[in-house]
Amino acid sequence: MKIITKVDELKNAVKAYRHEGKTIGLVPTMGALHGGHKSLVDRARRENDVVVVSVFLNPTQFNNKEDLRTYPRTAEADAALLEGCGVDIAFMPTVADVYPEPDNRVFHLGPVAEVMEGAMRPGHFNGVCQIVSKLFAMVEPDRAYFGEKDFQQIAVIRAMVEQLGLKLQIVPCPVVREDDGLAKSSRNVRLTPEVRKVAPNIYRVLRESVDYSKTHTVAETHDWVVEQINAYPLMEVEYFSICDGRTLQPVDQWTDTPYVVGCITVYCGDVREIDNIAYRK
Ligand code: PAJ
Repeated sequence: MKIITKVDELKNAVKAYRHEGKTIGLVPTMGALHGGHKSLVDRARRENDVVVVSVFLNPTQFNNKEDLRTYPRTAEADAALLEGCGVDIAFMPTVADVYPEPDNRVFHLGPVAEVMEGAMRPGHFNGVCQIVSKLFAMVEPDRAYFGEKDFQQIAVIRAMVEQLGLKLQIVPCPVVREDDGLAKSSRNVRLTPEVRKVAPNIYRVLRESVDYSKTHTVAETHDWVVEQINAYPLMEVEYFSICDGRTLQPVDQWTDTPYVVGCITVYCGDVREIDNIAYRK
């Protein structure tokens, strides 16, 4: 595995692979890698000749500076994990390498980027689009892999790809969970033992709500989920949206659209956890 830190070096390396007619898969990450990231990398490994993984804690997508400051940084362990997955290139640049000058681009991606995370974290998706569009331009991958844990992020990136007229394929990958159901996340290490014990109830309640939804309305299911989760100590729902899995706009009836998803964000102590579940697919 080559560890590359400079943009020009990355561009030259992928150009050489492309000249050999090889297909390229890209997995963008912010490091602190875990089994969720690994599932994306493994899939990219199976489906492409060359796998590039970026490990870059992108400052422009953090609207909360404290979140950026406390984000786990584990570069050495990340490189070892990627080497073990048979990755060809680990791209691990500094902020100055990626942003030699400030990125002032503003993306207008419409309603898909305005609800949920878009509403709660102003500027977040703009920062995600800045870095992901830069990575797409540097690597020009055939496929790029994203986790459904960040359900809305995939929809936003699809909208960006369409707007920029890019040719690559976006490959969504299922959520990887701990044995007790908690979605794996780099931020889980920040959960106190007390909070870690109650956090798996997010997914437990979401799963049970699928049954509940068969005999209750959208509004009833929404309120039931929020009530169940808020009943636990140290947990507070920030938002829960039962929405169209494609447009991410809230639905009124289960029959409004064929694909209905529940997207939730819960404060577990001071850690913000995000998860989702499909109701109708
Ligand atoms: P990060 O949070 O590091 O996640 C990198 C990728 O791993 C994302 O596509 C995310 O959805 C996926 N992922 C994280 N946890 C997962 C899990 N438990 N199961 C499945 N996939 C999981 O998302 C980002 O970084 C950034 O916004 C990025 C796209 C890299 C742009 O900076």
